[in-house]
Amino acid sequence: EQIKHHHQQQQQQQQQQQNHGKVPQDLKYSALDYVFWKVVGEGSFSTVFLATDIRLDREFAIKVCEKKHIVKERKVEYVKREKEVLSIINSRMCTTCPFFVKLYHTFHDKYRLYFVLSYASNGDLLPYINGKKFNEKCVQFYAAEILRALEHMHRLGIIHRDLKPENILLNENMHILLTDFGSAKILENQTLESEDKSLPNHRSRSGSFVGTAQYVSPELLNEQSVSFASDLWALGCIIYQMVEGHPPFCGRSEAEIFQKIRKLELNFKDTFEPKTKDIVLKLLVPDASSRLGALDRGQYDSVRSHSFFLGVDFECLYQKTPPLQP
Ligand code: ADE
Repeated sequence: EQIKHHHQQQQQQQQQQQNHGKVPQDLKYSALDYVFWKVVGEGSFSTVFLATDIRLDREFAIKVCEKKHIVKERKVEYVKREKEVLSIINSRMCTTCPFFVKLYHTFHDKYRLYFVLSYASNGDLLPYINGKKFNEKCVQFYAAEILRALEHMHRLGIIHRDLKPENILLNENMHILLTDFGSAKILENQTLESEDKSLPNHRSRSGSFVGTAQYVSPELLNEQSVSFASDLWALGCIIYQMVEGHPPFCGRSEAEIFQKIRKLELNFKDTFEPKTKDIVLKLLVPDASSRLGALDRGQYDSVRSHSFFLGVDFECLYQKTPPLQP
């Protein structure tokens, strides 16, 4: 044992000398530091596992991507973007926002990339709203947490572009944790706090359609341009879905959904609360710059002050017990 230990120490010393005494971030951890328990999420090119850090005896969600698969599927940019966005959100937390999945560290081996993330033990929001109807207080609470998360991202110049219930995870206390930033857009020098108030809206050309059909905004469909307000459109869709149990624009094909979005073809039942209907219709405005909040800077004051949010203390959401049971 002693010889083995000595040999290991020697090896470590050699390695540290080679690295000029520094241990690179990505070498500090390896898959051997974790026990992988089960799959908790699956994407087209990644699998998320519940894992325990053996040394810390603490649970994490580890997103694992096969290197070969990412290259073959041309998702390298997607993975890089996700890491970049998570790093920005986690590092520039001058005013901490608890509504995001935290990236603890990354590492890789010959075949795979690993993202060690906070584990959201209550899964995603979708099963809680699919085919069910949230009560008013519940819709209000989750809409408020999502809005707070959007304010934080947008202040940092990040547009999510794929906001949907599957990407809204729930922690052990049922507070939200936004995730999946592979489709996000980082706007350089163009944040919500930018001084240039003459800009009617922050737009940037982007290549092709990103996101998910049901939540995609008309500007993403028609002009391939994107703005912070694209995420506000998605918020409008999610508020509707929390009330009705299904998204506002449904169809048997993507084409059918897109047509409904373009024509703003959506129905409200008579039972739909008027002030909720009002905020949904103000968020689902086809012209992005006319959408509720589109002209706000730093904080979505015009959204916060809508009568739908009456009585909500936006600063104390995380201190409250969420109105939803696991
Ligand atoms: N599914 C995808 N990401 C997850 C996470 N961070 N925690 C739990 N389930 C997940």
